[in-house]
Amino acid sequence: MAIYPTKRLRRLRYNPIVRDLVRETKLSKDDFIYPMFIAHGENIKNEVSSMPGVYQLSIENAIEECKELVSLGIKAIILFGIPEHKDEQGTDAYSADGIIQRAIRAIKKEVSDLLIITDVCLCEYTSHGHCGLVDGDEILNDETVSLLAKEAVSHAEAGADMIAPSDMMDGRIAAIRKALDYKGFKNIPIMSYAVKYSSGYYGPFRDAADSATSFGDRRSHQMDIANSLEAIREAESDIEEGADIIMVKPAGAYLDVITEVKDKFQMPTAAYQVSGEYSMIKAAGKMGWIDEERVMVESLIAIKRAGADIILTYFAKDIAKYLDENPQ
Ligand code: PBG
Ligand code: ZN
Repeated sequence: MAIYPTKRLRRLRYNPIVRDLVRETKLSKDDFIYPMFIAHGENIKNEVSSMPGVYQLSIENAIEECKELVSLGIKAIILFGIPEHKDEQGTDAYSADGIIQRAIRAIKKEVSDLLIITDVCLCEYTSHGHCGLVDGDEILNDETVSLLAKEAVSHAEAGADMIAPSDMMDGRIAAIRKALDYKGFKNIPIMSYAVKYSSGYYGPFRDAADSATSFGDRRSHQMDIANSLEAIREAESDIEEGADIIMVKPAGAYLDVITEVKDKFQMPTAAYQVSGEYSMIKAAGKMGWIDEERVMVESLIAIKRAGADIILTYFAKDIAKYLDENPQ
């Protein structure tokens, strides 16, 4: 093996063409999924105060946004719903006329070449803001799983192309797979939020989706931030139960977990760069403390370099524009 001065690592950095030639990680528009918040009503375009550039949109405005995404080359969205009424059972989540079901049908009618993924959970639809049915301060697992399966089927019936359960109940992937298959949706894939931590980075999302809990927190179902062996067990059970894609969430603070899950299972692996990750970069950029665009690119490259094949990010539109100006 050569050593200095025969070996000089700087030789492959001496001009931009050489650097591009040896670049190991490249971003592509195909990598990204854009999260959208669909609000009940008309003419709604409310910027989320803690997430500049991200809006709660009523259906007709969401359709316009979808057209913009397609024209930018972003081909997949994940939908979150803000219903008119919330109740203890989260009824809007699995009603044929729920906000997401109506949004899917409307978008499908107007926009082609866009993959519609739906987030399956109850927390946007329950009056208490929890991800499942509650009894006292317990979040009930098995009763919740039945409702999640119902929610997944109703999204598929409305035309969803992929189902993404984010609730972290045990056994929900098997139940959803079984329910989808039984109803004839055997070709609809499941992207499981398999490794989802109980994270402070979800703060701004609770403003966006209006889903803060009225009591307690999510620590009895989401994972402890300190655990990575457990991440393997979570991913393994979801794969056994039939998940097609597994997700790690958040992304930036869990790059080690993304790498471990990818190396161990070699499955299509997604990572969710969550609301707080986005807001921190936006805020520091606005203050002039960091170069927002550079840090956006760096954060996304890091997630891909760690092993993610797919990145859910609120920066999807910005990175698509960046890639147009800076082909990789
Ligand atoms: C719903 C859900 C959440 C996120 C995605 N799906 C919130 C939560 O679990 O509290 C967070 C996404 C983000 O912060 O951008 N269960
Ligand atoms: Zn939830």
